[in-house]
Amino acid sequence: MAVISWKEIYATGIVALDEEHRGLIQEINRLYEAVRDKRGEDVTEGILTALVAYTVDHFQHEEKLMAEYHFPGLEEHQKIHQELIATVEELKERATSGTEDLARELLIFLRTWLLEHILKVDKEYGAFLESRGGRFIE
Ligand SMILES: [Fe+2]
Repeated sequence: MAVISWKEIYATGIVALDEEHRGLIQEINRLYEAVRDKRGEDVTEGILTALVAYTVDHFQHEEKLMAEYHFPGLEEHQKIHQELIATVEELKERATSGTEDLARELLIFLRTWLLEHILKVDKEYGAFLESRGGRFIE
C-alpha cells in the first residue's frame, strides 16, 4: 500500500470539484502516513475527523451543483453519499476506540471507495455538467 497520486483519468471535468477531489486524496494520504508511521491514536483521530468533515462539505458541494443543473441522477447520487458517510462514521467510531487495524481497514475502504466513486459515479455528473457549460462553476 502506498500513497495515492492524482491521475488525469480521475478528472470529472468540473474544475472546482476536481480540486476538491485532489484535496480528498491528500487527506487520505495524510491518514495513510499517520497509520504507517504509527503516530498514535489522537493524531489518527484528528486526521479522521478532518477527513470526514472535508468529505461531508465536498458532498454537499457536489449535490448543490447537481441540483442547480437539474442533474437527473441527483437522488441516486445523494443516496450513495449518505451510505458512504454512514460507513465512514461507523468505521471512524471503531477506529478511534480501537486498534490500528481498523484505521487500516478504513484507509483501504476510503481509497477503494474514493477512486471507484470518482471514476464511475462522479464522472456521470461531470459529463452532464460539462455538456451544459458547467466546467468552471463554483
Ligand atoms: Fe460524489
